[in-house]
Amino acid sequence: MPATVIVGLQWGDEGKGKTTDALAEHVKAVVRYQGGDNAGHTIMLGEEVFKLHLVPSGVLYPHIAPIIGNGVVVNPATLISELDMLASRGIEVDRVRVSKHAHVIMPYHIALDGAMEARLAKAAVGTTRRGIGPAYADRAWRIGIRMEDLLDGPALRSKLQRILPEKNATLQRQHNVGGFDLDELVQLATAWGVRLKPHLADTTQLVQEMLARGEHLLFEGAQGTLLDLDHGSYPFVTSSNPIAGGACTGGGIGPLQVDEVLGVMKAYATRVGAGPFPTELEDEIGEGIIDRGREFGTTTGRRRRVGWFDAVPLRYAVAVNSVSSIMLNKIDILSGLDEVLICMAYEVDGERVDWWPSDADILARAKPIYEHFPGWTEPIHDCRSMADLPENARLYVDAVERLSGAPICFVSVGPERHQTIERKPRPFRRPLSAANHVAAVVAPAADPAGK
Ligand code: IMP
Repeated sequence: MPATVIVGLQWGDEGKGKTTDALAEHVKAVVRYQGGDNAGHTIMLGEEVFKLHLVPSGVLYPHIAPIIGNGVVVNPATLISELDMLASRGIEVDRVRVSKHAHVIMPYHIALDGAMEARLAKAAVGTTRRGIGPAYADRAWRIGIRMEDLLDGPALRSKLQRILPEKNATLQRQHNVGGFDLDELVQLATAWGVRLKPHLADTTQLVQEMLARGEHLLFEGAQGTLLDLDHGSYPFVTSSNPIAGGACTGGGIGPLQVDEVLGVMKAYATRVGAGPFPTELEDEIGEGIIDRGREFGTTTGRRRRVGWFDAVPLRYAVAVNSVSSIMLNKIDILSGLDEVLICMAYEVDGERVDWWPSDADILARAKPIYEHFPGWTEPIHDCRSMADLPENARLYVDAVERLSGAPICFVSVGPERHQTIERKPRPFRRPLSAANHVAAVVAPAADPAGK
């Protein structure tokens, strides 16, 4: 049975939570593979609204094991408060598993993120100031604290004794802000360890065992392809790999265990934070999309920047993620416009460019070359099949599909689960013949969801 990767094809906030929701019934685990509490999902369950930053949205379904993989950077304070919030609202959270190898966002990472952004001033990335970049940087420097370190007070103290003087010196001397006290940090971190110990696990082993048992797993990326550290609009990116390949390094699977890559995108583009945005709309059309689409960040509350749909990064995103099918969200937000535009290519320094130049300097000079499509006036929230959609909306979806080169299998016409059109069946790469091989090398053990 398959492993499905859900990946954002734009600058994040494509509505991946709704995609997970659409598939949740059939899956046994939802695995977050990168990012941290910079992400945000708003999930509606009946009348209730849940806002989650770290715990995979699968937690809202009792049959799903929510897993935070080794590639995630974990702010334990956020994790504990989300677990408490969920438990207080009747959601069973004992089944949440967190990789022992995931790195911890320490208070000094958050302080450094804020101080660095303030120092960069006009050149700031516009981060969420959650300490994401500094935590990943320490991982690469091999001075990171991992979740398992929270369980061993003396070892943690000696690690912090080595790390903290340099962090404090940077904060105090370069940024002129306060440092941290060793004893207080050890106390805080070991208290996190006591609280989170029952949730810590070797999540790679769990994931491999579940796949060996033939269970269907969802790997959920945060942010989106254009914010990818390697493939995004560097340096205006996040510090991890949201692309589908990130599910391998951060989720504990091999490339041949991925059977499906479901790319998620909106019918228009949005971006939060700084950085070039060739199709940005800074007029009343953009204002209307922000209002109708409620385009405000879940994590920071910042107003998102909006723009026309851009096929140039779409082609790139489909390629680098090997997208097998697409969910197109929020097409209802475009209802009422006289015409809708799609950016087909860029003009950069007088030359036509079809391949996405991820370099931020080149992107800043890119002028979009648009094709105009006739709009539609009818509200489409109640459409449940492609035949119900106005002809111009159908033509728009067909054009986006042609440009992407991957089948658009779902079209979403509203935030509710039932407001989804199943346009085409999803193609799977192959039946998982390797499952037998995996089963032979991994002894099946108890399911973390207790099923
Ligand atoms: P960081 O991930 O907080 O370091 O921020 C780096 C960039 O990624 C900034 O432009 C953020 O606005 C953006 N970013 C981070 N998380 C998200 C997200 O979940 N949605 C959209 N943008 C994000």
